[in-house]
Amino acid sequence: MTIERTLSIIKPHAVAKKIIGKIFYRLECAKLAIIGCKMLQLTPSQAKEFYVEHQEKIFFQNLIQCMTLGPSMISVLEGENAIQSYRQLMGATNPIHALSGTIRADYADSLTENAIHGSDSSTSATREINFFFSCHDLFSKSCQL
Ligand code: CDP
Ligand code: MG
Repeated sequence: MTIERTLSIIKPHAVAKKIIGKIFYRLECAKLAIIGCKMLQLTPSQAKEFYVEHQEKIFFQNLIQCMTLGPSMISVLEGENAIQSYRQLMGATNPIHALSGTIRADYADSLTENAIHGSDSSTSATREINFFFSCHDLFSKSCQL
């Protein structure tokens, strides 16, 4: 059993649709504990730095625009194999290919506005969690009542 942490972002268009509660419910049902959470509107420079691996891609400008349109709900999830387990719950990047019952299949509006972000490896989870949170902002599952 590997207990991992991963970063989740509910993207601005999904926050605007008022589905934070529905998504959080799915996470908690899947035994992914929310151990830290904040709502913030990414600045263009924050979004560009966060998505730096995609800076040469054709969709980059559109992605930055979508990610800065309004507030995002950013959280850290903790659980068994959290990185892979959250990726499965999310569904494929392109909602056309997302399996039925996944969050993206149900809530994506387009390939770019695909409802949520999740870290894709333990290296990116560490980088992405540290991008938004300090260890004092996180409350490990083992410390929760
Ligand atoms: O988010 P995920 O890790 O599944 O996919 P990614 O390949 O890391 O791409 C990051 C984000 O860029 C996606 O979630 C989409 O919002 C966006 N994207 C896009 O707009 N067009 C593409 N062809 C690929 C990704
Ligand atoms: Mg990715």
